[in-house]
Amino acid sequence: MSMNPARAAGSDIAELRQLVGSCTACELCRGAKLGVPGEGPLPSEIMFIGEAPGYHEDQQGTPFIGASGQFLNELLGKIDLDRTQVYITNVVKCRPPGNRDPLPDEMAACRPYLDRQIALVDPRMIVTLGRFSMSRWFPGGRISQIHGQPKTVDGRIIVPMYHPAAALHQGALKATIEADFLKLPRYLANMRQLLETEQAAEKPKLEQSRLF
Ligand code: URA
Repeated sequence: MSMNPARAAGSDIAELRQLVGSCTACELCRGAKLGVPGEGPLPSEIMFIGEAPGYHEDQQGTPFIGASGQFLNELLGKIDLDRTQVYITNVVKCRPPGNRDPLPDEMAACRPYLDRQIALVDPRMIVTLGRFSMSRWFPGGRISQIHGQPKTVDGRIIVPMYHPAAALHQGALKATIEADFLKLPRYLANMRQLLETEQAAEKPKLEQSRLF
């Protein structure tokens, strides 16, 4: 009998963390010191999805704590948020050797964890950081053309962004990422308003149904 994929990736976030820590679904576990499941409150309104753990993340088991993480913290500060208010994870949970790009089979092996995290965190907005998380929702999309432009998928806003490391390597992108971050509160406010309008429209129906 095949196992339910949701159960295979953990029935709750604690089990998911445990499973990531002992995962052998691809080769990355051989070179990694620690699996890096992700962190943040449940539920979280915003979820950030990066690429893969780097050296520091692998040493400590925490996502985005190296140079990219410092910059991500700065960006969050610009919209009056900090890391305790958002969920942060990666497409793959173990560090690829030498920080190389994750391979398609590694991303596929790790996908049940990300799917399960999205279900458990239930974010209103997902911000993809870099091309590997972007390609899931924007296949064939080019970050230079679509960065900062949201679309709605299954009731969630998906916003593609440059990876913070890109700005650290190409200074000209710093202002672009900052400008994209500053749009996030407006997108969330629009989404909240839309949900409220929908709920208000549902209410009379509910009240009416109580009559019968
Ligand atoms: N880059 C990522 O994509 N993720 C991390 O956790 C750290 C650096």
